[in-house]
Amino acid sequence: MTTERLIDDERTYLMGTYRRLPVTLTEGRGAVVRDDQGREYVDLVGGIAVNVLGHGHPALTRAISEQAQRLIHASNLYYTLPAVELARHLVGLAFPGRAFFVNSGAEANETAIKLARKWGKVHRGGAFEIICALGSFHGRTLGALAATGQDHYSAPFTPLPPGFVHVPYGDIEALRLATGERTVAVMLEPIMGEIGVVTPPQGYLEAVRGWCDQQGLLLILDEIQTGMGRTGRWWCHQHHGIVPDVMTVAKGLAGGIPIGACLAAPGADVLEPGDHGSTFGGGPLACAAALAVLGAIEAEGLVGHAAEMGELLAAGLRELPGVREVRGRGLMQAVEFERPLARDLQLRCLEHGVIVNATGDSTVRLVPPLVITPEQLEEGLRGMRRALVG
Ligand SMILES: Cc1ncc(COP(=O)(O)O)c(C=O)c1O
Repeated sequence: MTTERLIDDERTYLMGTYRRLPVTLTEGRGAVVRDDQGREYVDLVGGIAVNVLGHGHPALTRAISEQAQRLIHASNLYYTLPAVELARHLVGLAFPGRAFFVNSGAEANETAIKLARKWGKVHRGGAFEIICALGSFHGRTLGALAATGQDHYSAPFTPLPPGFVHVPYGDIEALRLATGERTVAVMLEPIMGEIGVVTPPQGYLEAVRGWCDQQGLLLILDEIQTGMGRTGRWWCHQHHGIVPDVMTVAKGLAGGIPIGACLAAPGADVLEPGDHGSTFGGGPLACAAALAVLGAIEAEGLVGHAAEMGELLAAGLRELPGVREVRGRGLMQAVEFERPLARDLQLRCLEHGVIVNATGDSTVRLVPPLVITPEQLEEGLRGMRRALVG
């Protein structure tokens, strides 16, 4: 079927919520994907920070296949091994605490929001308000959307659940002023990804941690995009020497199989039987896949590799023509151009065998698989340059 025909059929049978690029992807290996015409692309987007092991990684495909033959789903009425092993492994990589598994980033954040609200009832006299950042992105469900600091995503769906206030990202004074008796938590991304990889000013996250400690608030960090080693540490907050009370993870956790997790430190862990649940959350297939991802990241030293490749990527991006700013950490980078060429560039990059992601009129985001090689990065950067000058 041609891409034109597919686009036609999609219009007939799928709700029109996505603006897709005009390409039909059919397979991939490592950081390279192939379309239905057999053309290859260096994948600098990795399914939006999801395919951390790239495409077709043998450890991941083997784990999925073996678990699928054993037990795909059982429900949360029973014990299953992969969920417990995954929770143990994740907690070991993050901080002492316990996990709750879901199926997406939005659901992981819903869990964090519900947990914070209950914590407020138990420990803070019914406080329920969560301070979030303007420009943040936490997902599309109503609670996560209310936390998200971008009105254009929520405007068609108001009224939103109450109990969320938004302050400028990086402004500790604004956060202090927004804190009151009703405040229960602060919820932030350590780097704001979706809006274009906005990094916090030096000392900001440390100051937020200090403020939460002083005021008795929970610090919830949304590491859905920044986690899994992408920034050159397992979790981005580790660059700052702080530990959150609650952390949400999703995207790359199972390398492309849907999963999300909410981790809570003992002092924040207030959910009890009946408080929360999920039919698919913590299922053996997704958890076995996630265990394979964690294992491969460790075995192949991909966290350090992400840091090294990130340096290469940032340096290469800085040398492209017409660049105003390159920002990010590790393999989470954005390049802001002087002119609003990003959307056009995204299309032109396809013609030159590279996949990039425009997050704004002049901003392009690069969140490639952690397994990307220096040669593939160079090839991707060459393609971007050709797309810019050609
Ligand atoms: C930081 C952050 N939080 C939450 C989400 C929502 O995740 P999902 O689309 O899996 O619901 C995203 C997705 O882009 C994200 O980047």
